[in-house]
Amino acid sequence: MANEKILAVVGATGAQGSGLVRAVLSDRRGGYAVRALTRNPGSEKAKELARLGAEVVAADVDDVESLKKAFRGAYGAFCVTFFWEHFSPEQEIAQATAMAHAAKDAGLRHVIWSTLEDTRNWVPLEDKRMPTLMGKYKVPHLDAKGEADRVFTDLGLPVTFLLTSFYWENLIHFGMGPKRGPDGKLAITFPMGDKKLPGIASEDIGKCAYGIFRKGSEFIGKTVGIAGEHLTGAQMAAALTKALGQEVRYNDVPPEVYRNLGFPGAEDLGNMFQFKRDFEQVFCGARDIGFSRSLNPSMQNFEAWLSRNRSRIPLEEEVKKASGE
Ligand SMILES: NC(=O)c1ccc[n+]([C@@H]2O[C@H](COP(=O)([O-])OP(=O)(O)OC[C@H]3O[C@@H](n4cnc5c(N)ncnc54)[C@H](OP(=O)(O)O)[C@@H]3O)[C@@H](O)[C@H]2O)c1
Repeated sequence: MANEKILAVVGATGAQGSGLVRAVLSDRRGGYAVRALTRNPGSEKAKELARLGAEVVAADVDDVESLKKAFRGAYGAFCVTFFWEHFSPEQEIAQATAMAHAAKDAGLRHVIWSTLEDTRNWVPLEDKRMPTLMGKYKVPHLDAKGEADRVFTDLGLPVTFLLTSFYWENLIHFGMGPKRGPDGKLAITFPMGDKKLPGIASEDIGKCAYGIFRKGSEFIGKTVGIAGEHLTGAQMAAALTKALGQEVRYNDVPPEVYRNLGFPGAEDLGNMFQFKRDFEQVFCGARDIGFSRSLNPSMQNFEAWLSRNRSRIPLEEEVKKASGE
């Protein structure tokens, strides 16, 4: 409708953005319309968003002109970058810069930047407790986002900095689900000691973002952290045991062991978990559960997420015993 405020959503077919697109579309009388940005409007996911009622437009975060066009006429934008597509903190900063300039060009009235902590504010490069990676980062995919905050501020944008949390979907898509050890038992492996990891159902990030837009100017110029629940590895394992109907253990490993697991990004993630472990109060303190629920009353905790998603968690088949059974 003519006087609806348009929210332009970067990453609209992805985990964070699609939650926002769906939140807007399911609130028909909320006064907002949604514009879904995608590199490929012809993809199945993009066509589904169009069928649900989104305006779907082509844009690429590596192409500032496409962003300017896509943001034009909008009230607000949700901005997110895609570190794991390229593993480059510099590219992530360049993409955030392109979105910020496009937001400025379009005169947006509210921008949400999906960011994370620049861990170098707590662990400077000379700190030896974790290795420096790529020459000037401790946790490249966190530090780059945090470093990019300044771009939005320097341009004088009406921005809300949204601190997200570990997606529980990582247990499904990111290879972090339960694995069988040599004893045949399932275990989740994190270098978190007995500290709590703030987690979230990824779709709830978009729902919180919608809550922030709906609050008008209340969170402009503010940093807002969100999580569905803060859980230790042992608590996650206990919830998984209950949901899956078979024992899942928590395998606590030192961060240096995790950094050396050999998969792409292992060092980055090892440092990330170590930061979350060593600065539990800072990291959890920035992500209050009650506050998160005030933005998104349907926020799921881990048990609720598991009840909907347990069948999607890939479990390795029982290792065949050496006897050939
Ligand atoms: N996994 C976690 O636990 C976690 C937690 C907190 C934060 N994060 C951060 O979340 C970010 C990723 O967000 P996400 O999980 O929502 O992403 P995602 O699910 O991987 O989806 C990304 C979507 O963005 C689009 N995209 C990719 N490259 C693009 C480009 N160059 N220009 C425009 N669109 C592009 C793709 O859509 P099209 O193909 O349709 O263009 C894709 O569907 C990462 O930076 C990560 O560090 C992750």
